[in-house]
Amino acid sequence: TPTPAPDLKTCGRATISDGPPVCYTCCPPPMPTNFDTIPYYKLPPMTKLRIRSPAHAVDEEYIAKYNLATSRMKVLDKTEPLNPLGFKQQANIHCAYCNGGYLIGCKVLQVHNSWLFFPFHRWYLYFYERILGSLIDDPTFALPYWNWDHPKGMRLPPMFDCERTPLYDERRNPQVRNRTVLDLGSFGDKVETNELQLMNNNLTLMYRQMVTNAPCPLLFFGAPYVLGNNVDTPGTIENIPHIPVHIWTGTVRGSTLPNGNTSYGEDMGNFYSAALDPVFYCHHGNVDRMWNEWKAIEPTKRKDLSVPDWLNSEFFFYDENKKPYRVKVGDCLDTKKMGYDYAPMPTPWRNFKP
Ligand code: C2O
Repeated sequence: TPTPAPDLKTCGRATISDGPPVCYTCCPPPMPTNFDTIPYYKLPPMTKLRIRSPAHAVDEEYIAKYNLATSRMKVLDKTEPLNPLGFKQQANIHCAYCNGGYLIGCKVLQVHNSWLFFPFHRWYLYFYERILGSLIDDPTFALPYWNWDHPKGMRLPPMFDCERTPLYDERRNPQVRNRTVLDLGSFGDKVETNELQLMNNNLTLMYRQMVTNAPCPLLFFGAPYVLGNNVDTPGTIENIPHIPVHIWTGTVRGSTLPNGNTSYGEDMGNFYSAALDPVFYCHHGNVDRMWNEWKAIEPTKRKDLSVPDWLNSEFFFYDENKKPYRVKVGDCLDTKKMGYDYAPMPTPWRNFKP
């Protein structure tokens, strides 16, 4: 059976992953309508595609726009804490869907480590992008993508490394600053190597995760999510490099947070807090782009799953007009139909067959 959209009435306290059982509340604001009458989302007609660009290559004008939109979102946290369009409320969506905020029947809903991963995050970014655009009255505003599969993008994109701007997050691991090259395969250990070697390793790893290890859909998307089955089999890209990029960017584990607690990898390094770092959405832009790139490698074999259990799984989100909607996995398979696309970048890893 497909996973139904969670009912807000079941939302309760979430638990922080990996740490001691600390509770955290991240339920969305109350709904204006009865849950059972939430309509299905219809993709709105569109006139011009939103084009998502590589984050390392955007111009000053774009950076200013993106900062402005993000700052308006952050202002809502203070002026209207229950506005679902606020930055914290948006970040809480991730927490609620990942840290046990929702129950389906009596099982905890989890959108990671299974085939729900790609479609959940695609819809999540879809609405986040529309909200940013509407806050600055720009219906073609598009998120940037962190192009970590290309040597030019294997660093924190500079626009996120500017102190006292809305895109900056002071809780990040300081190692991400000053143009350090990231290791796409590392779960925390550091290997002594030079930048060139690291970039080569990253490209080889991308080839492995995109080509060698993901010849068929279930390996790329992850195992079927059957409620209560505690599936824990992420797809190739979800596992690596998606998780290493989170760990690399999050707070140093074991360090002391300003409130005196021990860090469990805040912000990017833990599910409950990941989306409190604006770079989360940029990272996931590239994860989402890999879905398109994977299909492009071999369109006859590398296809979306066609099973109804996946296609009919649902989530719920607030749109940019604060209206709640149910969305279906089957409606997010084609980004152009959804109104956006990725500015092309070469994919040099395709030539890195080991
Ligand atoms: Cu929902 Cu990158 O994790």
